[in-house]
Amino acid sequence: MKLRYIALAATIAIPVIITAQQPAAPPTPATPYPWAYPLNPPAPAPNPAAAPPKPDPTLHTVPNSTKKLTQAQVGDGFNPPDWHPEDHPPMPDIVGHGRAPDIRACGFCHLPNAQGKPENASLAGLPAAYIEAQVTDYRNGLRASSEPNMGPPLNMLRLAKVTNEAEVKIAAEYFSKLKYKPWVKVVETKTVAKTRIIQGMHAPIEGTSEPLGTRMLEMPVNTELTELRDSQSSFIAYVPIGAVKRGEALATKANAKTTQCSICHGTGLKGLGNVPFLAGRSPSYLLRQMYDFKSGARHGGYAPLMKGVVDKLTMADMIDLVAYAASLQP
Ligand code: HEC
Ligand code: HEC
Repeated sequence: MKLRYIALAATIAIPVIITAQQPAAPPTPATPYPWAYPLNPPAPAPNPAAAPPKPDPTLHTVPNSTKKLTQAQVGDGFNPPDWHPEDHPPMPDIVGHGRAPDIRACGFCHLPNAQGKPENASLAGLPAAYIEAQVTDYRNGLRASSEPNMGPPLNMLRLAKVTNEAEVKIAAEYFSKLKYKPWVKVVETKTVAKTRIIQGMHAPIEGTSEPLGTRMLEMPVNTELTELRDSQSSFIAYVPIGAVKRGEALATKANAKTTQCSICHGTGLKGLGNVPFLAGRSPSYLLRQMYDFKSGARHGGYAPLMKGVVDKLTMADMIDLVAYAASLQP
């Protein structure tokens, strides 16, 4: 009798456990370009039976820094790692610590020197008025991502909604005074490593290869250091053969598809007044923005100036343009 009871309990219990452990299905990509808007693989369902993970005492280091930090410290959104404090002026509170519980430090995602990463944006050297205007656009629902399920832009959107003008002004002033440094190497290629998605960005799977096709894939030079949020570990962008030259022609010569970028973005795409500079910035970020202007997801007060620029451009054209922009000296 007892035995039969146990057997019955087992047949009931097993299916329950299986469903609980099955990861949620990944959301269907909202754009035809999932490689440009990478979605993190769904997190495994929590297993209530498992013991809580023990804190990992391993201390990590990065080149050119004397600091030693645990993984928990590296992932602390309210006290993010600042491996190279000598690289930038002292951070205001909002940049270095954010405002709990809703606003993680700006420097957590954008990095303390605001060089940024492919899944977010560089902020170093952008005009303060531009930075403030963009956060206001996010706050007022005028700027979103064409991929509503992409985690990093969604996080930016959510935190912008609870920022106030005073703290954004302080952050904007800090970022505008930083000098953006060369950060992305553009490489033309026919083939590229297969990638896995970590924290909203591509990372190469060593020893694999596949055709690049009509894509642009930006990844860390050193995945481990980027995952440790090392603000000196840079990126490499793989673009189709001939992309930089084609992009240069589209950007600088009169043509029927688009307007010369330098009219508004300045000579060498180094920025003009409050129009942001593009030279040397993450081509993943720039590409998503071009597509977001085209799709209408980014439709703030000044977006109409870009609408005419992108309307007739294909994805291949936009890849060429951002490859060219990223290859320029910032
Ligand atoms: C959780 C990560 C995260 C944090 C924290 C964060 N951002 Fe962002 N931020 C992003 C992402 C991702 C984007 C790109 C969103 C998109 O695609 O539109 C972005 C974009 C921006 C942009 C647009 C840049 C441009 O060139 O148009 C500005 C400005 C900005 N953030 C300011 C801030 C400020 C100020 C703070 C601190 C109050 C902050 N961010 C904190 C993730 C973050
Ligand atoms: C008529 C003026 C004008 C022209 C021409 C123009 N842009 Fe822009 N662009 C702007 C403005 C203004 C913004 C900021 C829009 C906003 O505030 O939302 C912008 C923003 C951008 C952004 C987003 C930058 C960021 O930090 O988020 C990209 C990428 C971009 N432009 C690419 C280009 C390229 C490539 C060309 C040439 C093919 C070009 N633009 C031509 C006015 C222009």
